[in-house]
Amino acid sequence: MLPCHIAIIMDGNGRWACARKLPRVAGHRAGMETLRTIVHHAASIGLKWLTLYAFSSENWARPVDEVQCLLSLLKLFIHDDLFELRENNVRVHVIGKRSDLAKDIVVLLEKAEKLTTENTGLNLVVAFNYGSRDEIVRAVRKIAADITAGKIRGNDITNNLLTSYLDTAHIPDPDLIIRTSGEMRLSNFLLWQAAYSEFSFVPCCWPDFSVVDFEAAIANFYARERRFGNLKYTDDIRGSLL
Ligand code: IPE
Ligand code: IPE
Ligand code: MG
Repeated sequence: MLPCHIAIIMDGNGRWACARKLPRVAGHRAGMETLRTIVHHAASIGLKWLTLYAFSSENWARPVDEVQCLLSLLKLFIHDDLFELRENNVRVHVIGKRSDLAKDIVVLLEKAEKLTTENTGLNLVVAFNYGSRDEIVRAVRKIAADITAGKIRGNDITNNLLTSYLDTAHIPDPDLIIRTSGEMRLSNFLLWQAAYSEFSFVPCCWPDFSVVDFEAAIANFYARERRFGNLKYTDDIRGSLL
């Protein structure tokens, strides 16, 4: 059985470009082609959820030109690919902080979500201006506001309640997290949601990541024994965690 949710930290665009004596932005453009290929493949094999880490809340620290390029590529992706995603039954979701983003980008993100809301195939989650700590802080602020407003009480706070205030409230936890470029860290990605995720760290940079690499990560996932703290995995145990 396929994992229900695969999340990918698409890393190494800059190094891919530097190795070819190209500007870093050329790596981001090449990475966009990989993104298209993997989204297409994920939809074709019947994956239910695919999350892509596209821009972190810390990536604003990069040079202005590079940040501009990443923002433009997001716009280009939605502009050029939205129609095809809709036709391919892909439903788009976006997680991350929207209040920092320019109005035209927010409008585009909302359009992508709205236009695909009826789709029932692959759920494509784009993590844009996303940082897990920021997401948790925003959730805690909303909980505090709801307590002040008398909607909930402090004693109502549970795992499930906090989960329901996160950007990912309606999204299952990732079963498998893949990171390209050989780095072995989460870089502020899905910290809460990754509590029982399996990890696959792939040495190649994102522009070189292929369908074969993706399938190899899935095959490797099948070989793992997930125990969720218990002795042996059963669907009952997983169900009780969700
Ligand atoms: C990943 O590639 C893309 C983003 C972080 C937006 P990088 O730009 O981080 O590439 P490296 O890690 O510097 O090679
Ligand atoms: C993580 O990669 C963010 C994205 C892939 C969007 P980074 O390249 O920003 O992470 P660090 O700085 O190497 O930890
Ligand atoms: Mg990087």
